[in-house]
Amino acid sequence: MLTELEAIQYVRDVGSGRTKPIIVAGEDPHQNVVEVVIKFSSACDLGTNSLAVEVIAACLAGDLGLPIPEPFVVRIPDDWRDSLPPDVRVRFSEFDNLAFGSKLLWPQWPAWASGNRLTPPMVQTAAEILAFDGFIENVDRRDGNPNCLVNGEQLRIIDHELAFPAMLLGPKPWQPGGLQSFTEHGRHIFRKELVARPIDGATIRQKWSLLQDHHIESYGAAVPDEWRDEEFVTRILTKVRDIRENIDDCMTELDRILQ
Ligand SMILES: Nc1ncnc2c1ncn2[C@@H]1O[C@H](COP(=O)(O)OP(=O)(O)O)[C@@H](O)[C@H]1O
Ligand SMILES: [Mg+2]
Repeated sequence: MLTELEAIQYVRDVGSGRTKPIIVAGEDPHQNVVEVVIKFSSACDLGTNSLAVEVIAACLAGDLGLPIPEPFVVRIPDDWRDSLPPDVRVRFSEFDNLAFGSKLLWPQWPAWASGNRLTPPMVQTAAEILAFDGFIENVDRRDGNPNCLVNGEQLRIIDHELAFPAMLLGPKPWQPGGLQSFTEHGRHIFRKELVARPIDGATIRQKWSLLQDHHIESYGAAVPDEWRDEEFVTRILTKVRDIRENIDDCMTELDRILQ
């Protein structure tokens, strides 16, 4: 279950991102104030289903020990929306009463740039991120749109709404050639950097194989009722289980694209 915040103050516009997210201060049930980047369903390709994917991917990433800013569900009171600057207000619909939030990383967290290099302590984390993206078919961590923030040797991944696509032709990630598209130039920020680097594949394999059914069910349960499309959520959770069942062949594909 994600912590629910109530939006209390508009902070500023992010100024980037396809969905034009904004930064707000939100209050948790213990009156702690947290600054979060929030994304509205009306700005996403699949509406509330996109936010369901964000929730499921964030829970999965957390269980796999991947570095992701804390995810939240952010309630938007009706009257609060009216206090937004007009140019921001017009972007969101009156039905956006719940948003997906990601704890704001600020100020020393620029986006990963294509000139950045992975130092040895970053290699394993980067490999786990590449494996995650490959297996969940997340095509949105590219040069030019890294969706990865960096501070020294620390990485943080964001933006998973395009993962688990419904219509992706071609082989599954565990079938021969399933990760081939990740070898294309600029398709994944870390793939080229990771070729022939020392990676602990056994740990990646083990983290996925240790996912229990009740863990995977809990990712679906974390999707708020307002965004719950039972059939859609079931399909995504089935995909997570399929990766786990086929993790050995997924790892073979990962090894192949890193040779
Ligand atoms: N937790 C965060 N901390 C700091 N900046 C963030 C965070 N989440 C998102 N951002 C910023 O907002 C931009 C858009 O957010 P993102 O989740 O990538 O949505 P979009 O689907 O619109 O690309 C990011 O590129 C990044 O600059
Ligand atoms: Mg993005």
